[in-house]
Amino acid sequence: MRKKVIIDCDPGIDDSLALILALKSPELEILGITTVSGNVPALQGAKNALKVLKLLNRLDVPVYAGEEVPLVRELVTAEDTHGDDGLGATFMSEVSEAIIKNGAVDFILSTIEKEESISIIALGPLTNIARAMEKDLQTFSKAQEIVSMGGTFKSHGNCSPVAEFNYWVDPHAVKYVFDHLTIPMAMVGLDVTREIVLTPNYIELLRQMNTELSRFIVDIIRFYVDFHWKQERTLGCVINDPLAVAYFMDRTLCSGFDSYVDVVTEGIAIGQTVVDCGNFYKHKSNCFVLDKVQSHKFMEIFLTRLFPEFTEDIALVLKDNKYSY
Ligand code: RIB
Ligand code: CA
Repeated sequence: MRKKVIIDCDPGIDDSLALILALKSPELEILGITTVSGNVPALQGAKNALKVLKLLNRLDVPVYAGEEVPLVRELVTAEDTHGDDGLGATFMSEVSEAIIKNGAVDFILSTIEKEESISIIALGPLTNIARAMEKDLQTFSKAQEIVSMGGTFKSHGNCSPVAEFNYWVDPHAVKYVFDHLTIPMAMVGLDVTREIVLTPNYIELLRQMNTELSRFIVDIIRFYVDFHWKQERTLGCVINDPLAVAYFMDRTLCSGFDSYVDVVTEGIAIGQTVVDCGNFYKHKSNCFVLDKVQSHKFMEIFLTRLFPEFTEDIALVLKDNKYSY
């Protein structure tokens, strides 16, 4: 039974890898891609989503540009990490064979209304999700669940000492979602996504594969790898978003716990997710927080889904890489 999903994202290099994984996964029926301002403004993200869809010959999937600015904060984007074009400064030609629609929030609501059992995989700030809940919580509550890449439990922040980028960009949206949620939500935070690293070994394997798809990935991650080395002396790059897609498809990949989670919306800790795992506040749990991941198993799924024709070579490199990630 294929699972119907809307992927809300801010492509973005790792968002693009997540879209590729989703498009290469027969378990998923992608009813649409909605973009939100985060790594890059929502419209640029939509243009990038079209580039990924064209690469995979899937321009049948509709793309909707969504909220351009956070609920309250000024928009802060991440071109320093993802390049001015959001795809590693590759500046690929724009896709003319498909149009970008407006009205991501209305698309999310109308699709939830129309379709039976649809889920949302959110890979960027939660602005679109919050706006949809604000507009029509009753309809939104017919959705199955949200799997959101964002936040952090014990792991340090990636855009402040304590905050993860998606939730830091629009903490008020996160607050609204956490405060009004009526459906299950899984928080795929930095505690698990930091374990997912495309190491030089894997990147060299992609280069050796030398296919149109592997060349696309090698090209868009170059800028991202340079950022990781400059910023944190990591060799390779952390690919956060694909884990949210993989976890949505295979819940054995990660484990976690139910908890009440709140988010800081002002001051030095703005965007920090406060995970009340000790139940100090005596609130009902509103989220399933992931804190452990089988990173090796993820990489096997990710690489073999994208490149089934190289399954043997992938197994070879995975064996060598077993103890690094
Ligand atoms: O903090 C990592 C997250 O922020 C990822 O989703 C990345 O694409 C950016 O949106
Ligand atoms: Ca993202």
